Amino acid sequence: MSNNLLAGKKGIITGALDENSIAWKVALKAKEQGAKFVLTNAPVALRMGGIQELAKECNTEVIPADATSVDDITKLYTESKDILGGNFDFLLHSIGMSPNVRKGKAYNDLNYDWLQKTYDISAVSFHKMMQTADKMDVMNNYGSILGLSYIAAQRTYPFYNDMADAKALLESIARSYGYHFGKRKNVRVNTISQSPTPTTAGSGISGFDSFYNFAEKMSPLGNATAEECADYIIMMFSDFTKKVTMQNLFHDGGYSFTGISEELIEEMK
Ligand SMILES: NC(=O)c1ccc[n+]([C@@H]2O[C@H](COP(=O)([O-])OP(=O)(O)OC[C@H]3O[C@@H](n4cnc5c(N)ncnc54)[C@H](O)[C@@H]3O)[C@@H](O)[C@H]2O)c1
Repeated sequence: MSNNLLAGKKGIITGALDENSIAWKVALKAKEQGAKFVLTNAPVALRMGGIQELAKECNTEVIPADATSVDDITKLYTESKDILGGNFDFLLHSIGMSPNVRKGKAYNDLNYDWLQKTYDISAVSFHKMMQTADKMDVMNNYGSILGLSYIAAQRTYPFYNDMADAKALLESIARSYGYHFGKRKNVRVNTISQSPTPTTAGSGISGFDSFYNFAEKMSPLGNATAEECADYIIMMFSDFTKKVTMQNLFHDGGYSFTGISEELIEEMK
């Protein structure tokens, strides 16, 4: 159902890879709520083809951009402004990848070149997107910028590997840039810390099924789905959250503040 929460708003959505992606659901809901936006992903991801179908469904275009390249981001913003006919009200950073995780390197045996890539793709790219937007002055007053995080930024989840450190950096960048963007341009910056979600990035983490089930039993409301995450993101892009900034917002069915649940106690007996 549409309440036209994003009527007249323009933005950029990164990270829609396939229909399981959180960003995919965001695109469908943003369209439903009246937004106009451009889709983007790394050139290699575009070869998989799915995003073009999504673009057709959303009546928009896809501009390839590697989020670690400032040149690509600059081109993305320049072309998007032309397509959308103006500056942006929202930017979604829905990007994560660790070569160490992908290639099965353990946290106590990291490849440091790959670690730099993890940081660059999963966290520093968020800074690059914001600094480029700031310098090009492409954000509208009270625009909203969001990144997606995971609770491994605060607590140790051994299987989450170097992505845990990348998420801690991502959340810190949101706070630091949130201050500067807020002061100078009234733009808000937040991260949403989402439940384990069965997507390509999520299920790439070893033991995903077990910690998905564990979180489901731990959370009073159960795990938040990708669809529900998209709803929250729409709300954060809307004018109803204009003074929320520099926050890491848990969207996890209560998981982050639950010590232990009755179900898990029963299982321990
Ligand atoms: N799935 C989960 O359990 C979960 C939980 C919490 C947070 N998150 C975060 O949500 C975000 C979206 O992930 P998802 O779960 O929808 O998985 P996904 O695999 O569908 O999305 C990750 C996206 O990152 C893109 N990407 C990778 N390298 C890139 C680059 N260099 N430039 C541009 N794009 C690049 C991929 O092409 C892909 O579209 C990520 O930040 C992820 O860490 C996921």
